[in-house]
Amino acid sequence: MIVLRGLSKSHDGGRTFAVRELSLEVPDGKTLVLLGSSGSGKTTVLKMINRLVEPTSGTVSVDGVDVLEQDPVRLRRSIGYVFQQVGLFPHMSIEENITVGLRLAGRPPEERRLRARELLGLVELPADLYAGRYPSELSGGQAQRVGVARALAAEPKYLLMDEPFGALDELTRESLRAALKSLRARLEKTVVFVTHDIFEALDLGDSIAVMHEGRVEQLGSGEDLLKRPATAFVERLFRKPAELLEL
Ligand SMILES: Nc1ncnc2c1ncn2[C@@H]1O[C@H](COP(=O)(O)OP(=O)(O)OP(=O)(O)O)[C@@H](O)[C@H]1O
Ligand SMILES: [Mg+2]
Repeated sequence: MIVLRGLSKSHDGGRTFAVRELSLEVPDGKTLVLLGSSGSGKTTVLKMINRLVEPTSGTVSVDGVDVLEQDPVRLRRSIGYVFQQVGLFPHMSIEENITVGLRLAGRPPEERRLRARELLGLVELPADLYAGRYPSELSGGQAQRVGVARALAAEPKYLLMDEPFGALDELTRESLRAALKSLRARLEKTVVFVTHDIFEALDLGDSIAVMHEGRVEQLGSGEDLLKRPATAFVERLFRKPAELLEL
């Protein structure tokens, strides 16, 4: 499980805060969605979980151990990260992109090749067609799928996903969401999923933390947020969706 306690991050010595006094828990096997507008601190939270950003104060623990006491390489191997900008290496084939972490960990070529094929199948890209291609030969949605496959390569227990389906059309988002749901059901991952899309949050989140200016405005189930908004901000945010869902 992932536990965040009183987590804050300031980039300017405490004048302003990207994340402020944030406390959240993600139980094993569950998906927590961080929902918030641009600049609300979502990416900063994800990066503090796997130590890409050091907190100004507060703690993060993964599997009951403070991440600052864990070996960063081991920690990152146990946490798959899908970046906001997919970030595939342009000079590497899709297979090499997916298995770059396994190569760094010294896994043999044949194992990497098989694992890449398996992962491509999981994200519904036929390996025969895609394993040997280069990132410039993929559509945006296909590149996002490869980003998800890469995050799964080391069989991490945890997945951090930063707007993994951002900048895609609604139909592609829907199909990627369905793929993620079936994958999550089969692999029992613990997921922190960042989005600014309310319907995506409602569809994927066991719980949803609504973030605003670095703070959690409200933490709850989709139903809580739709029917029992705790602040004026959450009420405004969920009013339209509640109408559309006829609540
Ligand atoms: N390295 C940095 N130096 C200074 N300020 C930063 C840095 N990284 C982030 N910030 C600021 O921290 C705040 C939160 O940024 P963050 O990237 O976490 O937002 P976000 O919720 O992920 O937004 P988006 O939806 O646009 O990706 C923003 O005001 C941003 O400008
Ligand atoms: Mg972000």
